[in-house]
Amino acid sequence: MGENSTSQATIQDNTPITVLGLGHIGLPTALGLAELGRQVIGADDDSRKVGLIRGGDPTFYEPGLTELLAQHLKSGRFQPVDDVAAAVRAGSIIFICVGTPQKANGQADLGQVEAVAQVVARNLNGYKLLVEKSTVPAITAQWLKRTIVRYSSGKAYPAPGSAPAAGPMAFDVASNPEFLREGKALEDFFHPNRIVCGVESERARDLLVNLYGPLKCPMVVTNTSTAELIKHAANAFLSMKISFINMVSDLCEKVGADVGAVARGIGLDNRIGPQFLDAGIGYGGYCFPKDLRAFIHLAEEHGVDFSLLQEVEHLNQSRVEMFVGKVRQAIWNLQGKTLGVLGLAFKAGTDDIREAVSLKIIEILREEGSILRLYDPQAIPNTQRVLPASEQIAYCTSAYDVAQGAHALLLLTEWEEFRELDLARLRGVMEVPVLVDGRNLFDPEAVHKAGFEYFSVGRGDPKLAGTHTSPGIALK
Ligand code: UGA
Repeated sequence: MGENSTSQATIQDNTPITVLGLGHIGLPTALGLAELGRQVIGADDDSRKVGLIRGGDPTFYEPGLTELLAQHLKSGRFQPVDDVAAAVRAGSIIFICVGTPQKANGQADLGQVEAVAQVVARNLNGYKLLVEKSTVPAITAQWLKRTIVRYSSGKAYPAPGSAPAAGPMAFDVASNPEFLREGKALEDFFHPNRIVCGVESERARDLLVNLYGPLKCPMVVTNTSTAELIKHAANAFLSMKISFINMVSDLCEKVGADVGAVARGIGLDNRIGPQFLDAGIGYGGYCFPKDLRAFIHLAEEHGVDFSLLQEVEHLNQSRVEMFVGKVRQAIWNLQGKTLGVLGLAFKAGTDDIREAVSLKIIEILREEGSILRLYDPQAIPNTQRVLPASEQIAYCTSAYDVAQGAHALLLLTEWEEFRELDLARLRGVMEVPVLVDGRNLFDPEAVHKAGFEYFSVGRGDPKLAGTHTSPGIALK
């Protein structure tokens, strides 16, 4: 790090940061940076969303976000705007947090990322560091550079492959992938395991290292393509870990083993680690399914046989049928049965239902003629938008309400509040006390004690398996 470049970065520290896109990544990032003491402009071209954010509503559920938003609207360090061009002109470090949805062929749709590059090109009024935070395929940074040079009529600098940025129309592009989990976004922002900075100049490196300095965690500084690949590889690896333990759980059921104990047994090995070894109905959400497909597409595009990941995807998709099979095993015919569903969000701590496995399961149960009573602590409004109430679908106000007259309860999202439920009270209002647990949230002994017939995942050990200890019923 040269002396000059360090002082340059320090000067830039006082200039505003612009965050483009105020969704699940952009808003926590913007508010996190404001909390670190920076002046942040958050821009989104959705004026309605910006209006709500200005009024203190983050527009989605994320623990702690409402409070942090209120705090930094008040401190004046966070300014939400809908004029993207003005926000670009005002910032010297510009974070791209726009959506990268999936195209029909699995490829990432980078239309919004390119649009941002064009706006930057047309509004360059001094040095800017353009930072990719959205998950993008490797070499997107090179496209960003090329686009900025093109749309600034060639006046911007540097052209791809040229020397580091200098002069009034200078810019840099960096990749700084996010590793924020929904439901834990702020925790992950303030306590990251690592920060990855893909840069192509000392100036860009110094700016990012300075920016994140207060977070005091390992920094991995690489080139831009490597940083882009790290993000894809991380999500793909975690998806693979989940599919792996899910297959182990199927085997556990066959051989009389307990997947929880297997996960603990292998997870205590430092080389494997204990996280992301919870077997269940499979992974969902906006990130894993989409990012895995984009990674597979990237490999195919470059002639690399990464069929391992295709298998991960295939195994994950098969979890839906696995779970519906368990429900059939538990209650026999689905038609006309009343099923209480606990959990709609793709995981606990969020109101997000994008690619939620729960909704795929609900769709099959609905098609088969079950009557569904649904409850989730946060995700009911989002679910109602895609699955309106009907003769077959009722939204409930609590888990106890869901259980009313049900022939079975299905646990689909691992909310902590479900763990605390009064099982005897639930049983008391059900038609038949059957519990099918897609997340292994409950302690089998407690469930059996409360008089439930219990079906969970990967608990083939006779001491844990529900069918062996249910009161007075011997299903084999
Ligand atoms: C994931 C990554 O964990 C983040 O690091 C990353 O930044 C983010 O994607 C992203 O790319 O933006 P997220 O999608 O919020 O975060 O959720 P996870 O906590 O990773 O869970 C994903 C899915 O896997 C959920 O459906 C969850 O229920 C499931 N899961 C997770 C399991 O089935 N088993 C586990 O052991 C862990």
